[in-house]
Amino acid sequence: MDKTSSIHGMWSSRLMFILAATGSAVGLGNIWRFPYMTSDNGGGAFVVVYLCCIAFVGLPILIAEILLGRHGRVSPVNTLRNLARETGMHRAWVGIGWMGIVAGILILSFYSVVAGWTLHYSWLYLKQLFGGAGIVDPGATFQALLASPLELTAWHALFMVLTVGVVALGVEKGLERAVRFLMPALFLMLLALVAYGYTTGHMAEAAAFLFRPDWSKINADVFMRAMGQAFFTLSLGMCTMMTYGAYLPKEGVSIPRTGLAVALTDTTVALLAGLAIFPVVIAFGIDPAGGGPGLIFTSLPLAFEAMPFGILYGLLFFGLLAVAAWTSSISLLEPATAFMVEKYGVRNRKRAAIVIALLCWLIGLLSVLSLNLWSEVRILDRDIMTFIEFIANDLMLPLGGMLIALCVGWALNRTILRDQLSDLPEGLFLAWRWLMRVVAPRLVLAVLVRALVG
Ligand code: PFF
Repeated sequence: MDKTSSIHGMWSSRLMFILAATGSAVGLGNIWRFPYMTSDNGGGAFVVVYLCCIAFVGLPILIAEILLGRHGRVSPVNTLRNLARETGMHRAWVGIGWMGIVAGILILSFYSVVAGWTLHYSWLYLKQLFGGAGIVDPGATFQALLASPLELTAWHALFMVLTVGVVALGVEKGLERAVRFLMPALFLMLLALVAYGYTTGHMAEAAAFLFRPDWSKINADVFMRAMGQAFFTLSLGMCTMMTYGAYLPKEGVSIPRTGLAVALTDTTVALLAGLAIFPVVIAFGIDPAGGGPGLIFTSLPLAFEAMPFGILYGLLFFGLLAVAAWTSSISLLEPATAFMVEKYGVRNRKRAAIVIALLCWLIGLLSVLSLNLWSEVRILDRDIMTFIEFIANDLMLPLGGMLIALCVGWALNRTILRDQLSDLPEGLFLAWRWLMRVVAPRLVLAVLVRALVG
């Protein structure tokens, strides 16, 4: 097999891969989920654990996923199948790829619903720009949206159509061009919001909430959620980065350095989002603890209402957030699509993307209904949307990540690893391999077991 290219196309450069991988990593996870998870799980205590998970588990597994992808050049399921054939490792490892497909479908189902909220808010600000009514009571506006199954379904559908549009076209055309401009724009918007946060005079309190850990708040649950968030935010554990790695050129592209760039950018964006949101939350007298999934939708509109050109900011902010969600959702759909394309032929890419997206959309309706008509339904003490999120983010992603670490650490021989990580000095290589073999699997397993059995 030709191992220098993939049938799905290739990123045109290392920079394009970084942009696309960052586009996948940076999304609702950073700007919607990170602030409210921090708010709900003890502020600084959560952030410290989260940062450790990123550094000692996330980044090493990110490197492992890219490496597997670039070695295999095909979708995760087939990459693992080929590896089993090539190296004699057990075929059961292929299960990682299958679980990734299932996790991706589950995540995209609710991800698209939340991304629909950002579209709705962009629309609200667009209307305001042309003289429509302002968001006077953000709490009520948010509740009104959640209470309407029809509206939620429509935005969810629109977002899914946008996602499938790009994936159907293939990655190079639409996506590469879009991320080049839109990701830096989002970054600048966040900086502007941090600057506004500073003018509220509450930056110090916000920073203390985010960075001063109250150690007594750390328990197995907080650990599990921080681990889940680390995997979610870096798009790990479901073979997305493996899929993107398959389209990464080999010559002159260092996997560790590329992975580091992606992880650093992603973490910076999450922390900036925290520094943008918490000063506003505090300035408007909202309790920074226990904000829940509505946090950014109920707090930021207060800032947009108060600041000069706030409506324009509101439009740009939610618009760019929708774009960030878009570049992530594309990557959620890609592993399953790539697999179908390999099974049914390149000419069926469109149909494959549509079928999978339709499935995600249908499952997403469960999340829509759990916000209103079925809000009373409980599974393991959670509403349906939170339950799907829990299974996919907090369980499947860390489990997938753990299996990837074990596979790379124990089942693959050194030659394959060294071939992909040729630029890594021996000492760092050994440290990375030790993290894969010993640290990451034990840590993830311990966290999952403790949290699950209490
Ligand atoms: N990393 C994305 C975010 O932070 O919003 C979400 C995500 C994308 C998770 C792709 C998993 C994935 F495979």
